[in-house]
Amino acid sequence: MNVTLSVIKADVGSIGGHIRPSDKLKETVRNFVRDNGNGLLLDSYLSSTGDDIAILMSHNRGVDDPKIHELAWKAFMAGTQVAKEQGLYGAGQDLLKDAFAGNVRGMGPASCEMEFEERPNEPFLFFAADKTDPGAYNLPMYLAFADPMHCPGLLLSTKIAKGFTFTIMDVSYTEGDRVIELHAPEHLYDIACLLRDNERFVVESVRSRATGDIAAVVSTSRLHNIAGKYTGKDDPVALVRSQSNFPATGEILSPYRLGHYVAGTMRGSHNGPLMPVRLNSSVSFFDGPPVVSCAAFCVHNGKFTEPVDAFDHPFWDWVRNRTAEKAAEIRQQGFSGPAMLPYSELEYGGVVEKLGELDKNFVVRGAKGGKPPKKEAA
Ligand code: F6R
Ligand code: MG
Ligand code: MG
Repeated sequence: MNVTLSVIKADVGSIGGHIRPSDKLKETVRNFVRDNGNGLLLDSYLSSTGDDIAILMSHNRGVDDPKIHELAWKAFMAGTQVAKEQGLYGAGQDLLKDAFAGNVRGMGPASCEMEFEERPNEPFLFFAADKTDPGAYNLPMYLAFADPMHCPGLLLSTKIAKGFTFTIMDVSYTEGDRVIELHAPEHLYDIACLLRDNERFVVESVRSRATGDIAAVVSTSRLHNIAGKYTGKDDPVALVRSQSNFPATGEILSPYRLGHYVAGTMRGSHNGPLMPVRLNSSVSFFDGPPVVSCAAFCVHNGKFTEPVDAFDHPFWDWVRNRTAEKAAEIRQQGFSGPAMLPYSELEYGGVVEKLGELDKNFVVRGAKGGKPPKKEAA
């Protein structure tokens, strides 16, 4: 049967700063989806990662279904009401528009969706990241789907050796969805050339070249493009199908051992290492480090098994310790150079305003056609 998986996530308030939503808020959103999803949903699952709540839903209605999007939007509205009653910080933060207009895209919440013919056994992974942006998945997706150093299946399995097609979006373009399709392995260098720029070019989806089947989808929204100002980092979600014609679960998880540096963490304006964490983890050090969680499922006739927490294993404790060291290391240099994001990516206006003020006081010494330097009074 054809099944659609939809993840819609939002930050609608949290306890103690931008740390973690309250239990009551999560319960409210979960119950709303359950009580109002009758006749729409086959199943649903809710989790939090840092200050974000993600709703995973299965249904038969295809991607971009207005009713599914409306259900999630209304669930987050109900959550916002509770967040306000509890006095949570940032209540309703990601709901940037007043009236729902058929799709959550462009309204604040992040979403990613895929529709496929369900295999008799259908394993998939649901990733959610906080304090970072969609480009955080660029490197792990590239390594899982195009690099035999992480995905030996590209060498060992004839099923996946045909490679994968990457659809990459230029997220700085705001007039519409500007995308390019590139094929691994023959376009590897072109793919790498784009994906090195995590803030501009983002993996939107990956497809199997052997079958044409959808393998992975990532939320691509950039909040500052929608709001025109800082309203929080984008905190992206992703879905990845695994095994058989796709990379194995372990191959998809392998790149997360790197704890690679991504944009985000404090005030969305720094670089920090992406730490793989357990489901429902909070954030802490320096409003970070950027975190990613992963729930592994099988879906059968649209029904989910219980989730397995993919990063809840002693191996990942070692990764977390190393990632913490990387986080502390880059923090040693505070605002200097690569520790803080470049001007164009700063999420708060303070530096921009300050530079504007200072700009007026710059002088060009001895410039042609400029005013001659003032003579000192004798
Ligand atoms: C990053 C983030 C936090 C806040 C910071 C200040 O995505 O959400 O680092 O930017 O805690 O928050 P405000 O401006 O709400 O006091
Ligand atoms: Mg967040
Ligand atoms: Mg937030």
